Amino acid sequence: MERPVKIVTVTDSQTTSNGYVLLEGRDAIVIDPNLEGEIVETLEKYQAVPGLAILTHEHADHIRGLEALRERYPQMRTVASLLCSERIQDIRSNLSRIFGVYLMFITGERVLDYPKFTCRAADVMFEGRLLFSWHGRQFALEGIPGHSPGSIGILAEGIGLFTGDSLLGDRPVITRFDGGSRQDYERVAVPYFQVLDPGLTVYPGHGEPFLLRDGILRDDVQEREAQEKEGPGQEAWEKEGRIAPCTPTPQK
Ligand SMILES: [Fe+2]
Repeated sequence: MERPVKIVTVTDSQTTSNGYVLLEGRDAIVIDPNLEGEIVETLEKYQAVPGLAILTHEHADHIRGLEALRERYPQMRTVASLLCSERIQDIRSNLSRIFGVYLMFITGERVLDYPKFTCRAADVMFEGRLLFSWHGRQFALEGIPGHSPGSIGILAEGIGLFTGDSLLGDRPVITRFDGGSRQDYERVAVPYFQVLDPGLTVYPGHGEPFLLRDGILRDDVQEREAQEKEGPGQEAWEKEGRIAPCTPTPQK
């Protein structure tokens, strides 16, 4: 590997989500286009154009800038798991419908301006695993449901592992959102992480990078405490009347 890829992290102060811009000369990959403005600023600073946007999963705080970025860079191809691609097209599955309420729970502040939005389908979709090479580095994308059905891990040779919200360094993974599954997480995601090099650098969807061995794979006590603090999730909120029930948008 000749020279290291430059990695710029774009953090959304409202939701704490991380987006990443990988720069190799004038070419770039955007992982999780959370904030269009700051991502464009980064790209322009390095005079780079994104060839790819890769989505770690379908949740609103990780995809909010996607459509604006697609309009600005029409040659950019969006890569996602098949389920992620389906779910970004629906306000319930992408959580944008409840994100303002969710933020209210965790910040204690009223969030009035969080938009309900959908995105168009990805340009490249896959089930299972997708391998490709980028400037001589192998990228391995693999479906790891649990946090959400469309979640993937992105193993980038010589760079590290991008985990979205499927592995974090400072809090346990949430599996209670729409379509989340603790069983899937234990069955698919945990073994995926366990066979990788524990010394890999993990670039998470929230928080600072950490070594894979330090990621929080399971912590039921913390998870319960987080649930008490953050609220029980959208089904309970629907029952309580905090948010209106809704059925998924039919897929075209
Ligand atoms: Fe998420």
